[in-house]
Amino acid sequence: MRIVNIVGARPNFVKMAPLIRAMTRRPAFVPTLVHTGQHYDQAMSEQFFQDLDIRPPDFNLEVGSGSHAVQTAQVMERLDPILEATRPDLVLVVGDVNSTLAAAITAVKRSIPVAHVEAGLRSFDRSMPEEINRILTDAVADFLFVTEESGRVNLVKEGVDPARIHFVGNVMIDALQSSRRRWENSSILHTLGVEPGSTYAVLTLHRPSNVDDPGTLTNFLEAFETLARHIPIVFPVHPRVKQQLVRQGYGGDAQADSRDLLQSKGIAYLEPLGYLDFVALVSRARLVLTDSGGIQEEATILGVPCLTLRDTTERPVTVTHGTNRIIGSDPRRIVDESLETLAHPPRPSGAPPLWDGHAAERIIEILGEHRKPTGLTPA
Ligand code: UD1
Repeated sequence: MRIVNIVGARPNFVKMAPLIRAMTRRPAFVPTLVHTGQHYDQAMSEQFFQDLDIRPPDFNLEVGSGSHAVQTAQVMERLDPILEATRPDLVLVVGDVNSTLAAAITAVKRSIPVAHVEAGLRSFDRSMPEEINRILTDAVADFLFVTEESGRVNLVKEGVDPARIHFVGNVMIDALQSSRRRWENSSILHTLGVEPGSTYAVLTLHRPSNVDDPGTLTNFLEAFETLARHIPIVFPVHPRVKQQLVRQGYGGDAQADSRDLLQSKGIAYLEPLGYLDFVALVSRARLVLTDSGGIQEEATILGVPCLTLRDTTERPVTVTHGTNRIIGSDPRRIVDESLETLAHPPRPSGAPPLWDGHAAERIIEILGEHRKPTGLTPA
């Protein structure tokens, strides 16, 4: 079974690592890996391949940055001849980034079945580019692999044939569990000058709605500065945010000042961290503040309190089962909820169903069962 697997942006690499590993263990599977090049910096791409032990991609489309339409169109244009030449039985896409949608459309236009890993998640906020990517990818996918019950419910409500929906668990948690020994050995805390046992919060922010408008970003930063009087904050900065921060006079020296800032209970602005260092940092934090989807899930499994700086989540199981709370973007609320959470951390009620480190194996098993001598047939 020839499968073309697509990755483009940082969270895709984490999800793809266990899938490629599971395919490689089965002689019946012939995986090809295509990197669209949506993320291309060493810190945003290569470091993840290294940390997650992913073999180098067979093809790199080198699309780089651009408007959503241009990025999507370029992935389609450059992937199409590869699909024509390799004639795969299936194209497998993960997550909700522009590369996910672009690859799914390109495949169906060539009548190649599509598998979507992390299907069915819905924030019900169509102003998020990821929500559009999710809805459209799911609309054309033949195999919809869901991470949580809400995914199945959403897809059924949208009229998807239940036979196409497979509740398999979460490949992001597979990656977290299988690399545990490696991230536990990370020396990031030592590098940052954090004494063993000291308390700190981790912050990430990159959603366009949170960072592209200078006024909104300033409000956030004021809240973080207030909070930093109570607990030091470590802030690995996404490239799109860095440009804004430097423009506004924050954290221009990036890594250089992290040690001093931490010791003076400030905010340590860092360059983006690799996967192992980031998970290590989160695993020992007292609190995570984020607008990322994947980090809500990782915090749930690591048992670290997580406050999501958005009005919605497409991952409700992290709230019902995990440590996550959705608190929006009001600066005062951010400070109040953070202090409340530090004083009274939530008790996680156990891992969500099937978040057990074996999701990728289930996916490969299901794809294997649908194999026919003439190629894959949709369920
Ligand atoms: C993308 C995904 C988002 C995901 C995030 C993870 C979409 C619509 N968004 O957002 O869902 O959560 O990745 O990080 O697909 N840049 C660099 N170097 C890089 C990559 C980006 O400098 O390697 C800068 C460029 O200025 C670029 C900007 O970051 O314009 C945004 O990158 P882009 O891939 O468009 O979206 P992300 O915000 O990273």
